[in-house]
Amino acid sequence: MLQTSHATHGFTYAKALAASEKINWRVEDIIGGAHRLDFGKPFMPESLARTGTLGFLDAEARLKLNHIRANGYLYTFGLVEEFILPFVLDHARPLLAEDDVRTRALLRFASEEAKHIHLFCTFEREFESGFGTACDMIGPANEVGKAVLAHHPLSVALLILQVEWMTQRHYLESIRGNQDLDDQFRSLLRHHWMEEAQHAQLDTLMVEAIAANCDERQVEQAVDGYLEIGAMFDGAFKQQAAFDLDALQRATGRTLSAAEAEHITAVQHQAMRWTYLGSGISHPNFLRSVEALSPAQATRLAEAAKAFS
Ligand SMILES: [Fe+2]
Ligand SMILES: [Fe+2]
Repeated sequence: MLQTSHATHGFTYAKALAASEKINWRVEDIIGGAHRLDFGKPFMPESLARTGTLGFLDAEARLKLNHIRANGYLYTFGLVEEFILPFVLDHARPLLAEDDVRTRALLRFASEEAKHIHLFCTFEREFESGFGTACDMIGPANEVGKAVLAHHPLSVALLILQVEWMTQRHYLESIRGNQDLDDQFRSLLRHHWMEEAQHAQLDTLMVEAIAANCDERQVEQAVDGYLEIGAMFDGAFKQQAAFDLDALQRATGRTLSAAEAEHITAVQHQAMRWTYLGSGISHPNFLRSVEALSPAQATRLAEAAKAFS
């Protein structure tokens, strides 16, 4: 069985619980009612939206595409949080009575994800009424969740760990100080980030706990499974790029040429690959967790991340 090091990161259930208890926002405090989105401003940072190079679109069309991508961004979080919630509860359940602090920290993790699902559904309604054009989305969430949860728990825990660290990276690197973005959308992402910071720590501990019962071969198979899930999402993001193109054409009333449509779809698919896959897989803290399980698998994933840049 693998020996993992707990010394390097310093994460504990007690620290995550204490940090989580200091944060206490409600969905209605950040979206809905007087909290209005300003559709005159971009919602997503350019590093994730990548609309700036689409020079054949005018500024208004690029802004619409930015909003479509922002809607997809929160929808995708909601999609993954729908399987994170049962996964965390299943992980907590066998040891509910063993360690009160662990149990409370994991139940808060699950409860916060349930709140985030509520937050993103509320956002979606606000978005639809303000944007005025319906946008198709990949899914349905329960089918995606079933397909993901059919994999080894370590594959799923690695995926969740990657999502948590990617959320941290997006906010810190391109959203926190970005005055160009709509304040309301930025506030929503800030509140989400505040709670995700604890999730990243707890998921690090979940990965370690699950991997403690795995040998080297099982870790390799779990990474195989993790990459299979990644490939499934990659295919879905290609579909999402096609949906987004369709929404853009309906929102602008403009029909793009075949070459323009192909170019937008390719750029946007790659943008989603970076947003949802590459920026998480290449995160140093994610790779550090994998390295502690198997240096060879960490090298393999660092290599795989290059295709999603
Ligand atoms: Fe979340
Ligand atoms: Fe989370």
